[in-house]
Amino acid sequence: MNSTTTQCNSSSTYRNVPVLIDGAHGLGALDLDLKALDPDYYISNAHKWFCVPKGCAFMYVKKDLQSKTRPLIISHGFGSGFNSEFIWAGLHDYSPFLALHTVIDFWDSVGPSKIRQFMYGLCKKACYLLLKKWGTSLAAPEEMFGKENKGKLCANR
Ligand SMILES: Cc1ncc(COP(=O)(O)O)c(C=O)c1O
Repeated sequence: MNSTTTQCNSSSTYRNVPVLIDGAHGLGALDLDLKALDPDYYISNAHKWFCVPKGCAFMYVKKDLQSKTRPLIISHGFGSGFNSEFIWAGLHDYSPFLALHTVIDFWDSVGPSKIRQFMYGLCKKACYLLLKKWGTSLAAPEEMFGKENKGKLCANR
């Protein structure tokens, strides 16, 4: 992912095209270093590998693009600056965000590599179980898949 992002970033700088990285699986699945990636935009939900209840996500926007980036929903905070405009989109259910600090404590106490090892192992086990049940085979050699998305190995029928 990092090399693809780096390629995108360098070509975007050349062509002056902002880059938005859809990192839906990024948070939790890998060590996310936004400083090093330096994207224009990066979005990730927190309900996949990070294990926060559905509805919790984040969007990173590079400082100099924030004044040009507006929310789809105009609600409280309109005209009060970037963070205020995005912080309260009407009747959105914010309760999943309340679990965030507990989940972060969990990641801190167990450790990312131990959690990932467990999740990848479980995912791989599930994948091979399905391959066997469905009588199908890998869509591509195993080494072509990132360790975080073994589930997609099951796609070839
Ligand atoms: C690359 C990518 N973008 C976006 C999404 C959508 O995520 P959400 O569950 O928040 O709708 C997914 C879901 O798997 C995804 O893989």
